Amino acid sequence: MHRSIWLVWLTIVLVACQPIAVPAPSAPAATLDEWSEGTPGVGDPIFPLLGNGGYDVQHYTIELSVDVMRNEIMGATSIRAEATLPLRSFTLDLLGLTVEKVTVNGAPAHFTRDGQELTIVPIAPLAASVLFTTVVTYAGTPTPIRDAHLDFVEQGWNRRDDVIFVVSEPQGAMTWYPSNNHPTDKATYTLRITVDEPYVVAANGVLREEIDHGARRTYTWEMAQPMASYLTTVVIGEFVRITEATSLGVEIRHYFPPQDADRLTQIFATTDEMIAFYGDLIGEYPFDAYGAAVMPFPLGFALETQTLPIFGLDLATEGVNAHELAHHWFGNAVTLASWDQIWLNEGFATYLQRLWLEHKLGREFLESGMRRYYEMLSAMKTPAPGMVDAQNLFSISVYERGAWVLHALRLRVGDELFRQFLRTYYARFKDGVASTEDFIALANEVSKQNLTGFLRSWIYDETLPPIPEVSQSFPASD
Ligand code: TRP
Ligand code: ZN
Repeated sequence: MHRSIWLVWLTIVLVACQPIAVPAPSAPAATLDEWSEGTPGVGDPIFPLLGNGGYDVQHYTIELSVDVMRNEIMGATSIRAEATLPLRSFTLDLLGLTVEKVTVNGAPAHFTRDGQELTIVPIAPLAASVLFTTVVTYAGTPTPIRDAHLDFVEQGWNRRDDVIFVVSEPQGAMTWYPSNNHPTDKATYTLRITVDEPYVVAANGVLREEIDHGARRTYTWEMAQPMASYLTTVVIGEFVRITEATSLGVEIRHYFPPQDADRLTQIFATTDEMIAFYGDLIGEYPFDAYGAAVMPFPLGFALETQTLPIFGLDLATEGVNAHELAHHWFGNAVTLASWDQIWLNEGFATYLQRLWLEHKLGREFLESGMRRYYEMLSAMKTPAPGMVDAQNLFSISVYERGAWVLHALRLRVGDELFRQFLRTYYARFKDGVASTEDFIALANEVSKQNLTGFLRSWIYDETLPPIPEVSQSFPASD
C-alpha cells in the first residue's frame, strides 16, 4: 500500500460509511564578488533541487497556444519577481521543452540548461530588492514526470484521448512552465490559453475573458490569491460548464464531461453547503471560486488544484469533494513549508473530511470511524507521519495518522479550544506557509498548555501513541 496513494483506499472505506452517495533599473553598485548566482534549490529535504534561491516571484503570466491533437504547446511565461540577493544570474525550474528566447527587463539574456535547471544571465546584474521581469519563450510537447516513488500518477501535463489535464503535486509544474517550483514561493497567476474549437479551457481562479478568433478561442483565467506552483492546472477538452447558485459569494463552476453532467451535478450539489460548513468552522473560504473538473475517465486519484480540483471519474464522490475542498484552507491557503511535512496537508484534509461527515451524522459516527483507523494503523506498523521520505509521501500514515494528530489534539484540549486552534492557525498562516513547528507552537499558545511532547510523539514517534483521555474540563459536545 505504501507506494500508492492512500486516498484511493480511503475513498473505498468512506463510500462504505456514507449514507449519501515594471522594468526596474539594475544597479550595479556592488563590487563584483558581492553578486551571487542565486541557488538551484531551496534545500527541500526530499526534493533538494526544487525551487531556487535569490528571488521571490510575485506574478506569473502563462500565455500558451495549445494543439490538443498533437499535444504541443507554444508560447511564453512572464515572471515578475523581486531579487532577494544581488544577482549576476539565477535559475528557474523547467524540464523538457525547447527554450527559444529569454529576456530580462526586455533585454535578451544568456541562458543555459542542465536537467531541470534553466540558468539565466541577464546583461546587467540585478541589485537586491529590485523588481525584474523575465520572459521565457518556449515550445514543444510536455513530458510528465514518472517517479518510481509516486507510481500512481505521471506528474505534470498529461494528455489522454482528447483531454489535457495538469496534476503536478509535488514536482510536475516544471513540465509545462518555468517557475520557482517550491511551495515556499507562492505567487498570483494569469493563465491565457488558446485552443481550437470546440475545446474548452478551464484553469485556476476566475474566467476573466474569452476571445473568439473563429476557429480558435483564447481563455484568460486569473488567480488573484497566492498559489503554490504544484496547484496550478489547466484542463482542456469538451467539457460543459455547470454553475451552481451560491449563498456566500463564492463562484461555483464545475467542468463535467457532457455525458455525465446530470449525474455529477447531483453528486456535487452539496458543494455550497460544504463551503459554508468549513467557512463557519475555520474562517472564510480563501478564494473567489471553486468547482470540480471531472475527467471522462478514471484516474484513481483526485488533486486539490487551486479552485479547480481534478477528479478521476471513479473518484467523483461527495467524500472526496469534501477532502479536496478542505485542502483549500489547509494545503492551498496555508501551505506546507517543505515536502517532508506533507502530513500538514493530508492529515488536515482527511480529518476535515471526517468533520463534514460528523456534521451530517454525529459525533459517535466520527468516533467509531476514527477508532477503526486507529486499529488499522496499530496493526500495520507504518512510519510516523512526520518521518516520511520520497517513498511514502502519500501513504496511509500521512493521511490517517496525520488525521489522528488532529483528533488527538481535539480529545486532549476539548472541542472549544480545538476549534479556536483551527481558526487561529488558519488566520495566522493563510496566504503563506506553515511548518510542523508552527503547528505545535500554536497549539501550545491557544491551549495555554505545553503540548510539545504530546504532539511530537503523535507526529514523529514510530510507536502509535495511546488514544488520549477525553478532556475533563471540556467534555465532548454534540
Ligand atoms: N493531494 C492529493 C489528495 O488529495 C493526492 C495526490 C498527491 C495527487 N500527488 C498527486 C493526486 C498527484 C494527483 C496527482 O490527497
Ligand atoms: Zn489530500
